[in-house]
Amino acid sequence: MKKHLIVVAHPVEDSFTMSLARTYVGELIRTGCDVRVHDLYRMGFDPVLSARELIDGKDVHIRMADVLIAQEDVLAADVVTVVYPLWWMSMPAMMKGYIDRVFSRGFAYEVEQGNVRGLLSGRRAAVVTVSGAPLAALVEDGRWQALELLQDTHIFGAAGFEFVGHLHIDEVGPAMSPSAAAADLSRVREFVREHFASVPAA
Ligand SMILES: Cc1cc2nc3c(=O)[nH]c(=O)nc-3n(C[C@H](O)[C@H](O)[C@H](O)COP(=O)(O)O)c2cc1C
Repeated sequence: MKKHLIVVAHPVEDSFTMSLARTYVGELIRTGCDVRVHDLYRMGFDPVLSARELIDGKDVHIRMADVLIAQEDVLAADVVTVVYPLWWMSMPAMMKGYIDRVFSRGFAYEVEQGNVRGLLSGRRAAVVTVSGAPLAALVEDGRWQALELLQDTHIFGAAGFEFVGHLHIDEVGPAMSPSAAAADLSRVREFVREHFASVPAA
């Protein structure tokens, strides 16, 4: 049974992002996967990489208890999926802090003679994001390509993951119709089935 870790960052429990994460988790469970969730706001995760975690500015990490627990879950996972809304075309600070602290040097990557070597190889990663703007507008002026390069390729590539895919749900906002929301949640279920399911759709 494949083990999945879902890491989600949204402060509002009934936000679209959270319902999307719940749909993703539900579909994984339905297909027989083992799922663990890091719901960062509800966990009260501390996203601030503190001075205590860096010695003499040399980027040598002391691992705090919360980080050690999170890292155990990353190590146990076959697939890690991060779910977040695009805020200023990036991840919320909460998610960025999780990456900063949990994907630490010596755990997620090592630097040898100036080269970065990922330490989490053998695992797969996926990204699920939400934006207010239409995807076409983001692609047109290069914002989307910048995001893919920095958030997908750089972070997960540096850590050694095989990148499975990035599902993006666009034009999310208060004016969204219930039918558009339902169609978006169907896309989430399809993404899960396409990449991870061994059980056929109901
Ligand atoms: C602080 C903040 C910054 C945002 N920045 C962007 C942005 O740069 N581009 C974009 O398309 N949407 C942006 N949005 C909209 C969100 O990506 C998202 O579509 C919206 O919050 C609705 O999803 P939710 O119900 O899960 O919050 C931003 C929202 C917030 C709160």
